[in-house]
Amino acid sequence: RPRVFSGIQPTADSFHLGNYLGALRHWVALQDSHDAYYCVVDLHAITAGHDPKVLKRRSRVAAAQLFALGLDPERSTLFVQSQVPEHSQLAWVLGCITGFGEAGRMTQFKDKSQKQGSERASVGLFTYPILQAADILLYQANAVPVGEDQRQHLELSRDLAQRFNSLFGRTFTVPSPHIVKDTAKITDLQDPTAKMSKSSSSPAGIIDLLEDPARSAKKIRSAVTDTGREIVFDAEGKPGITNLLTIYSALSGRSIDDLVAAYDGKGYGDLKKDLAEVVREFVTPIQERTNAYLNDPAQLDKLLARGAEKARAVAAGTLRDAYERVGFFPPV
Ligand code: TYM
Repeated sequence: RPRVFSGIQPTADSFHLGNYLGALRHWVALQDSHDAYYCVVDLHAITAGHDPKVLKRRSRVAAAQLFALGLDPERSTLFVQSQVPEHSQLAWVLGCITGFGEAGRMTQFKDKSQKQGSERASVGLFTYPILQAADILLYQANAVPVGEDQRQHLELSRDLAQRFNSLFGRTFTVPSPHIVKDTAKITDLQDPTAKMSKSSSSPAGIIDLLEDPARSAKKIRSAVTDTGREIVFDAEGKPGITNLLTIYSALSGRSIDDLVAAYDGKGYGDLKKDLAEVVREFVTPIQERTNAYLNDPAQLDKLLARGAEKARAVAAGTLRDAYERVGFFPPV
């Protein structure tokens, strides 16, 4: 079976619809066809300052949501990154074959470090994509399901795998991005040209999976729509309505054509009202299941510890090979 690996940061109290539609629903789907490894990347979540208690809570909430969304601990290995030390160990080695300029060209780094200012932006923010490459390469992943915003980071992971292999001998599988175009960039409800983002969108622009569906309904009602009154799918001319149709179609399983036909002659208000209902139906059982996991943190931590053990068995094997190839001493 081919391998799949992906990760998500525990940097908010809930995942949002962009995370779900761009990535997490593929995580769930790929468990059927792939040997699946998924990670709550808490090491990645400390690059811009954090509160330790909040971080631990968010890591648990992240894991609970992932199980609630359908990750099955029997079929997938879900773990928290800080429980598998090989990630940091491989990242050091990969950092030594990454060019300074190469890392500096990462657009997420450029955007974030510009916003924070070069004195405040951490070195961790700079080396972040190298750690991401280590995550993926440790598991010899063939496919990495992510949204469009991760494309450049995956390109770096591929380059580093190839570079290491040609410098030291074949060690890593070169991973392919698994980016499903339709929903690879869900946009901000208040600014449908920008991506829905926990770090840069306003709360009104984001639909969180764990928020009260009445609140989501309000946000959908006040979503920025486009001039005109027709409901058509046109990403250039009507990005607002197109985003709502994309979300509606992905959550309901109805095709875009079907929706466009069904709303022929109806207004934006009708579409928004119905979409709010679709969102309510989708999130309600997820919220219930998430709470059930969170109500038993000891059991949740046990599932994660088991995941970390399984992950570590694979990661340790790869790291041992990599260490051997670069001329380090074997582990004792
Ligand atoms: P993160 O935590 O920001 O986001 C998790 C996943 O959600 C996707 N995503 C979106 N997809 C569509 N539309 C959106 N508006 C949207 N917003 C977010 C992201 O593309 C991502 O797939 N660097 C990664 C975490 C990471 C990782 C890895 C991923 C660390 N190591 C190894 C893959 C493999 C990140 O910050 O994702």
